[in-house]
Amino acid sequence: MEAPAETLSDDVIVLRRWKPEQLDTLAAVAGDSAAHLGAWMIWATGGYGEPEAKEFLESAARNWAEGKTYDFAIFAEGEVVGGTGMLTRPGRIEIGYWLGRHHTGRGFVTRAARLLIAEAFRLGAPEVEIRHDEKNVASGAVPARLGFTMIGEEAAEPPFAPACAGVHRVWRLKRP
Ligand SMILES: CC(C)(COP(=O)(O)OP(=O)(O)OC[C@H]1O[C@@H](n2cnc3c(N)ncnc32)[C@H](O)[C@@H]1OP(=O)(O)O)[C@@H](O)C(=O)NCCC(=O)NCCS
Repeated sequence: MEAPAETLSDDVIVLRRWKPEQLDTLAAVAGDSAAHLGAWMIWATGGYGEPEAKEFLESAARNWAEGKTYDFAIFAEGEVVGGTGMLTRPGRIEIGYWLGRHHTGRGFVTRAARLLIAEAFRLGAPEVEIRHDEKNVASGAVPARLGFTMIGEEAAEPPFAPACAGVHRVWRLKRP
């Protein structure tokens, strides 16, 4: 699949490809929410700061160039509120997301996922999947809201973040 546009927006949020100069912003937003994020996402479980942000931004740049993942900052009201990304898999795209702890409950991630889904289908992906731990009800509400179908469960690869059961729910949306 061809790379997505580096900026995607609706009337409330803007997704922008992560840039190296966002190191401090990413470290601050994810660092301030490390406990909220680390319950569910193993990359934040041990805390989050500048070294983690630097490593993420470097691997995101590499993965974008290699067509493996396409990672974006989510902006709302001019500030970074979280992150989202597309993971390329044979025959499909997977979408992941997180929000800073002060920015939940306003539909930002549902909007972000909707933008990535539209872009993935525009670029020819036959289907989009979202996977989340079975205990992560807030994450599962996103694909449910967007019309995905829950197609099954599968064992997740350890290690798991502490709030996780280790069972992934798999949701799928086919290109219309
Ligand atoms: C998963 C996560 C991103 C979901 O965040 P969220 O705030 O529930 O998701 P959204 O931004 O789409 O907002 C949805 C909420 O906003 C409300 N909302 C307000 N306006 C809305 C709109 N225009 N569209 C959709 N929802 C809207 C919804 O009702 C919902 O609130 P509710 O759960 O009380 O019903 C968040 O819980 C998180 O960051 N968790 C930690 C990291 C994580 O688990 N990531 C996923 C790993 S698989």
